Parts: sequence; C-alpha cells; structure tokens
Amino acid sequence: MSWLLYFWGLIYDIMIHLIAPSVLSADFANLQRDIEMINRSDADWFHVDVMDGAFVPNISFGFPVIKAIKKHATKPLDVHLMVENPDRYLQQFKEAGADVLTVHFEACTHLHRTVEAIKALGMKAGVAINPHTGVNLLADIVADLDLVLVMSVNPGFGGQKFIENTYHKVALLKDIIRAKKSSALIEVDGGVDLLNYTKLIEAGANVLVAGNTVFSSANPSQTIKELKKF
Ligand code: DX5
Ligand code: ZN
Repeated sequence: MSWLLYFWGLIYDIMIHLIAPSVLSADFANLQRDIEMINRSDADWFHVDVMDGAFVPNISFGFPVIKAIKKHATKPLDVHLMVENPDRYLQQFKEAGADVLTVHFEACTHLHRTVEAIKALGMKAGVAINPHTGVNLLADIVADLDLVLVMSVNPGFGGQKFIENTYHKVALLKDIIRAKKSSALIEVDGGVDLLNYTKLIEAGANVLVAGNTVFSSANPSQTIKELKKF
C-alpha cells in the first residue's frame, strides 16, 4: 500500500500543475470583466502582484484593489509582495482576501518569524527569490513553507524576457524540497510562455504565473487552456 502511495505521489508530482494568470497584465479599466474571464477559464489561482516602489522600481496597487478583486474572484488569491519589510502589512493582506501570501527572501531579516506569522493568520506561506538568489539559501526554511516562488525575471514589471538559468534553479530546488521532505510547491514567475512552460514543468515547477502571455493573446481563456496541457 505504501508503495502504491509512493508511486501515486510521484505521478501527482509530475503531472499536476497550476496556472496563475497575473492580474498585473489585466485591463484595469475592465478589471471585473477580466476577473470573470479567469473565473470561467481553466486557471487555478489569481496571481496578484503588490509593488511598493522601494523593493522594486515600480508601484502597482494596494488593499482597495485587492479587496475589489476578491469580491469577484471565485478562485484563490496568490498574493506576491514585492515590498520592503512586509511584516507591517500581513494582517491587512489577510483582511483584503489573500489565500497564499508570498514575501521576498531579500526583503525579510527574520524570515522564519514572518513565515510563522503568515501561517498563524490562516494563509499559506510562500517565499520568493530573485534571479541572483541561490536556492541553497532556502534549505533551512523550506520545510516550513507551502510555496517557493522562483523569479524568472527581475521583479517589477510584466512582459520581460525569461531568464534561462531558471530551469537549473527549479531542478536544484526540487532536490532540496525532496531531501527536506517538504510539501512546498514550486512557482515560477516571469516570462512564462507557450514555448517554455513544459520545460519548466519537467524541471519540477508546480505553479506557473503568466501575465503577458495570457492577456496579450487574442483569446486569453484559450491560452490558459493551452498552458494547462501537459
Ligand atoms: C513581475 C511580477 C510578475 C509579472 C509576470 O515582477 O512578479 O508576476 O506579472 O508577468 P509576465 O508573465 O508578463 O512576465
Ligand atoms: Zn508575481
């Protein structure tokens, strides 16, 4: 029986992947329309990018917009904080409707404390790493995480070029997750498209964020359907 479960675990590990369209690339003047498109599509989560103009050289949106998204979304909100000292706002993100809350490794001095605080508020806890941050730095926190977000562009903007070294990082991270018996999902964010997504899944990615690829396509829900194929 345990062998059966082991093989099922392997198959599940390989086969299942989630798609999280990034709202950053939506039409903000027609946000409800775009949210309803994602609700009806094969997408699994809403990816919600929060930028503070300090941790990253861009400002996106804050609590009122997240609350408005939550009002219409029928799928979990995967909130990616690109902000300095995110501990100041954890409670407010919970109240705004975050289901998964991801903070940056590079923005947290006491990362373990931050992760525990996110979980104590009843959210799934994620840690994001910038392209220059080695996955080995997560070895002592990965068992406490629900998700690791691997940035495959430098954070701050949608529509950037995918960094090829990401495949290698995802594969290394998968080994660390297995070695530490962690159940953390690996999410890849930035420049994901119809040409690279299968290779990312093969490397070990479980969740793929897609902004530009979905929203600049002629048929966004069809593009989401394509990204779900494997
Ligand atoms: C970038 C954000 C991404 C962005 C991805 O800083 O974290 O989530 O929206 O957009 P694409 O898929 O267009 O690279
Ligand atoms: Zn993001």
